Amino acid sequence: MKITIIGTGYVGLVSGVLFADLGNDVICVDNDNKKINLLKKGIVPIYEPGLEEILKKNIKSKRIKFTSNISEAIKLSKIIFIAVGTPTAKDGISADLKNVYKVAKDISKNINNYKIIVNKSTVPIGTGDEVEKIILRKNKKNKFDIISNPEFLREGEAIRDFKYPDRIVIGSNNLKKTKPILEKLYLPIINKGAKFLVVSRRSSELIKYASNAFLATKITFINEIANLCESTNTNVEDIAIGIGTDQRIGSRFLRAGPAFGGSCFPKDIRAIVKTANKFSVDLSIIKTVIKSNENRKKLITDKIIKILGSVRRKRIGFLGVTFKANTDDMRDSQFLKIYPKLLKRGALLSYYEPTGKKYEIKSSKIKFVSSIKQILENNDMIVIHTEWDEFRSINFSNFNIKKGTKIFDLRNLYKIKNISNKKIRYYSIGRPNYE
Ligand code: UGA
Repeated sequence: MKITIIGTGYVGLVSGVLFADLGNDVICVDNDNKKINLLKKGIVPIYEPGLEEILKKNIKSKRIKFTSNISEAIKLSKIIFIAVGTPTAKDGISADLKNVYKVAKDISKNINNYKIIVNKSTVPIGTGDEVEKIILRKNKKNKFDIISNPEFLREGEAIRDFKYPDRIVIGSNNLKKTKPILEKLYLPIINKGAKFLVVSRRSSELIKYASNAFLATKITFINEIANLCESTNTNVEDIAIGIGTDQRIGSRFLRAGPAFGGSCFPKDIRAIVKTANKFSVDLSIIKTVIKSNENRKKLITDKIIKILGSVRRKRIGFLGVTFKANTDDMRDSQFLKIYPKLLKRGALLSYYEPTGKKYEIKSSKIKFVSSIKQILENNDMIVIHTEWDEFRSINFSNFNIKKGTKIFDLRNLYKIKNISNKKIRYYSIGRPNYE
């Protein structure tokens, strides 16, 4: 099938490359010429393990093309995906939809024959209706359909998530015409076991926000239980298994950690609350999740201070600073909320990050180092902030670690009994200190 994807950000690029890999002819459009030129050369501008190889393969077989000519790209395909960013607006809460509406206008000017316009961007309920209105200003109703098809990819796991999703959600108000076409497009994935769920367009828009809100709630729940574990000498991992094996609860997304971050959960839960407010509905649970998650970053920072007594002139080295492993994304990373207080209290901070130095860290006082060794051997405290594989099996005895060095493992990668190095004092999340 011939597909045009507008926007080569995370969702657009991953979908474009993988739709091409399924045998479709894909045109990816972006107004960022620099990005398009890199992509034409087979260079992926985001960090996503394995994506570049698949991109190169599909450029070679001419199944994927990149352009900044949006008019031509719209005219050439019957299926047009909108996959542009919907960041938080200036009010700090709602989703900013100007990119989506701009694309809708571009589409409206270039409809030459029937198009299925599929929205993959995360958008509030009713955005599909607005896009339809914009396109109707210049086109007849029978010339197009607007579909909602939210994306559930995780950064760092995007290839697997695209190929083997639990479900594909399609929201359409004209199922008769659009369902067979989208079913055909997704057939290779449906055949591998994904559920194909067809709902109204508005319901589909809400499914995306409700999914992210629920997962964020699940993480917040286990993080609060971890706090209780720390005060009661119980183990949050046992609790997670103990509750997660009940299939009504489910075991995934029950890893306690340093609060959730990233470009999606924080932004989307704020936006769903804003939408609900618009309809005078109080999403009190989600509001509490937002509060609890913010509070958690303070709590972790205070625990670092408590473990060290005072952080003045103490050296603290972070292993990883992104919001999770397998990404170079710093958006809403917990670290960005943790470091300012430590700096203010006089701590001497450094970090090692597998994906390199981060310009998002505003202070020049925080030193970037290029090896784990420099973090292990030069600090009073080592904070394991993300769960990269390379942090999981460090043989601490192989390093010249200072006596009394403290490790604060925010991802529970180790067990105290497995750290034979007697110079280290080990702390983790929601576990008794002897485990
Ligand atoms: C999330 C969703 O998982 C995807 O389904 C969704 O498509 C995506 O947002 C989006 O809306 O685009 P992502 O932000 O890439 O994906 O990251 P996650 O793997 O979900 O992790 C989010 C945060 O929660 C991270 O800070 C992570 O460390 C934390 N987390 C996750 C936990 O603390 N515990 C867990 O058990 C799982």
